[in-house]
Amino acid sequence: MTDYQFLKPYTFKNGMTVKNRVVIPPMTERSGLEDGSVSRDELYYASLRAGGVGMFITPAANVTATGKGFEGELAVNDDRYLPRLAKLAATMKQNGTKAILQLIHAGRMTNSQILRGTQPVSASAIAAPRDGMETPRALSETEIKEIVVAFAMATRRAILAGFDGVEIHGANTYLIQQFFSPNSNQRTDQWGGSVTNRMRFGLEIVNAAKMVIDQYAQTPFLLGYRISPEEVENPGIRIADTLQFVDRLADSGIDYLHVSMGNAWRKSLNDPQETRPTILRIKDQVHDRVPLISVGGLQSPADVEKVMAAGITFAALGREYLREPKWVQKVEAGLEDTIRYRVNRTELEDLGLNPALLDFLDVIGTDLGYAGETDATASDRVDAIFKD
Ligand SMILES: Cc1cc2nc3c(=O)[nH]c(=O)nc-3n(C[C@H](O)[C@H](O)[C@H](O)COP(=O)(O)O)c2cc1C
Repeated sequence: MTDYQFLKPYTFKNGMTVKNRVVIPPMTERSGLEDGSVSRDELYYASLRAGGVGMFITPAANVTATGKGFEGELAVNDDRYLPRLAKLAATMKQNGTKAILQLIHAGRMTNSQILRGTQPVSASAIAAPRDGMETPRALSETEIKEIVVAFAMATRRAILAGFDGVEIHGANTYLIQQFFSPNSNQRTDQWGGSVTNRMRFGLEIVNAAKMVIDQYAQTPFLLGYRISPEEVENPGIRIADTLQFVDRLADSGIDYLHVSMGNAWRKSLNDPQETRPTILRIKDQVHDRVPLISVGGLQSPADVEKVMAAGITFAALGREYLREPKWVQKVEAGLEDTIRYRVNRTELEDLGLNPALLDFLDVIGTDLGYAGETDATASDRVDAIFKD
């Protein structure tokens, strides 16, 4: 076995040690039951992939019923989901993998069909600039505070279910990002306007989750936060805003920052003069206060080792882990030659991937990109996953 840096353990400030630096990022593979409960398919999918990686982040789970973004999405908005969430946590935690529950509110990135007749909500009554998107209703201040509390209650459920942490989904154009973006947030109260006001919603959620963790977690429990560093819309999130935000996040008590991009080494989407990869600019700003997770197009051990060499603590393999559930085990066993970089459609069942996921991948490939990106190669890479 090669002496890869990414196979070395890492100990967080809160005392939790993860066995290596490889992460499965959140991937909604659309296996939740109609009501958002964990299904047997979900458990099977997770059981195939657990055990090798240091951290395994669940598909996004909605913290309120109106926060549901997709059919087949998990829910953590009620205690009735706890028994099956506990099974999911236990399945993911086999052989020392840490299980993290991702918490989402989709905001306007849903529709009244998915919400069974309810109008979507957001920071402002502005539809997402994509075909067919519905105009949401702007949340009242009371409702905003209720959603902050819903994230806290979901965090408590994650603790009760036996997860090792939660990740706040502040990325990929969902509600928290909608508040941070000057495009989707045109409020004039304390939740909109200046960058300080626009980051308030995300920081309040972190605070509320932290209070719950301090009160209820009896063993070290991680609080992660996922961001998308830029938007292409004008106005929209620019890296200067993001650097201010990550500066605040790094001191907010989170345990890690997850930077969502379709290509881990992507440079600015808006500033062609900028030659440095965005992840390195964020790294400089964070300055080792919290570890980073980098993601986007990483596939081979060499790809992951390059992330380590840049001083980034964790590397996440998304679509590659759909194709290759035993990636870490194969590297550890010196079987790198057998890592799958392509799968055949006939293998899907064995990989625990269901047909609804294929439709979803088509959507990702033909849209701006799931990770809120305009990376033109994203759709090629998604298409490449399922080449027969
Ligand atoms: C099928 C699929 C589902 C995804 N679901 C989520 C999700 O629930 N939450 C999230 O934050 N990101 C989600 N993502 C984005 C991934 O976490 C990751 O950022 C993206 O796939 C880029 O990494 P990769 O190139 O390694 O696949 C999803 C991606 C895919 C392909």
